[in-house]
Amino acid sequence: MKQIPADALVLYGATGDLAFKKIFPALHAMAKRGNLNFPVVGVGRRLKSVEALCNRAKESIEQHGGIDPAAFDKLSSSLRYVRGDYEGAQACSALHSVLSDSDNPAFYLAIPPSSFESVIEQLAACGCTKGARVIVEKPFGRDLESAQSLNQVLLRMFNEESIYRIDHYLGKKPVHNMLFFRFANGVFEPFWNRNHIESVQFTMAESIGVQGRGGFYEEAGAIRDVIENHVFQILTNLVMEPPVRTDSDSIRNEKIKVLRAIRSLDACNVVRGQFRGYRNEEGVAADSKVETYAALRLEIDSWRWAGVPFYIRAGKCLPVNCTELIVRLRQPPTMYRQFNLTQNYVRMRISPEVTTAVCTNAIAPDDETKSQPVEMIASRYPRADEMDAYERLLGDAMAGDATLFARQDYVEEAWRIVDPILNSDTPIHEYEPNTWGPADTTGCVTPPGGWHDPVVTA
Ligand code: BG6
Repeated sequence: MKQIPADALVLYGATGDLAFKKIFPALHAMAKRGNLNFPVVGVGRRLKSVEALCNRAKESIEQHGGIDPAAFDKLSSSLRYVRGDYEGAQACSALHSVLSDSDNPAFYLAIPPSSFESVIEQLAACGCTKGARVIVEKPFGRDLESAQSLNQVLLRMFNEESIYRIDHYLGKKPVHNMLFFRFANGVFEPFWNRNHIESVQFTMAESIGVQGRGGFYEEAGAIRDVIENHVFQILTNLVMEPPVRTDSDSIRNEKIKVLRAIRSLDACNVVRGQFRGYRNEEGVAADSKVETYAALRLEIDSWRWAGVPFYIRAGKCLPVNCTELIVRLRQPPTMYRQFNLTQNYVRMRISPEVTTAVCTNAIAPDDETKSQPVEMIASRYPRADEMDAYERLLGDAMAGDATLFARQDYVEEAWRIVDPILNSDTPIHEYEPNTWGPADTTGCVTPPGGWHDPVVTA
């Protein structure tokens, strides 16, 4: 069910990193497309005035995509500023007067979750939460228990339909398009199951390190930072059953069924690594045991997927930037065994370019006694004017469409799956930057036939 559109956006953490890197550029893009038709109220301590907030927005947009003068004018004229300690009563009552024309404000809490409770209590005390919605960032909590308590805090003042939990991967067009690709085509569905698929592997590789976010990363690690959220969202799109309709709840109901069918992980299904040099980053403990790489193996106990192993790896300082899935098919019974056939696979790349490829065997053009793998590829790079994930998600949250946001039951199931490995004391293996992570000493998190290392050409 859609909510009515929000009529003001209140940005807590307007002077923070997320606002600088993502939110101002997204608002600017909305203005450029003619979609910024509400006031944006920054709340913060550091800046003195709305002019200073405009300057901060300008600097952010210059560094992230560049200024369009008309769009920036629109954004600056929409900006308001409330200065004060956002956990204090004074800022909230100033906010209340700035919002006097708003019946349905959206509060974007781009601040540490530890501040949520006091901010929400203040907002409620000064009468700002009526008709309001709240937007919060992933990771939602640190484990199952903390996610549940955080939710209790939000539910005191907002109902579930008014809570928009952002996972920006859901706002990426190629991630959302996975559903269209699967369910708008009949060609894949007949073999998209345990009868034909032997294994699935998923690589989310980043060539960057932690880029000055050592303090944040020490509290997270790869499993909390990207696997429990981004990776699981992509995985559920890959394997879910067709939803009965395209509305938000029909889709989210199917996604949660996938998570419910995944057994909680145990220590023998995970390999954790840390790139050499991580411990020298600012904000990182000299003896840190936080993983910058994790590989895991999981199974989905459903009619469609039982017995098909899923291999997942995600890490920093790997050789390329690429997110890619390989769906490997079983070998056919064949009289061509002597050809040393490659297993057929479907390759779906989410980034840097969007690719769907099907790999088949063909007789080598120069030697009829040999086979060679041939990929049939459909591939494209994102267009320059394509909507960025944050623009899409902010637009949807303001419009009241929750389809691309995580529901609490989903978040809790995701934590339930990884909780045992978050709390287990599995060893951390050091790996060299620019390599594919540590060797799998257990042997059980390596796909049959080995990992398909993505090759990125551009
Ligand atoms: C964020 C993580 O959620 O996603 C980062 O906190 C990670 O550590 C980033 O680098 C990856 O997002 P993208 O859009 O650059 O693939």
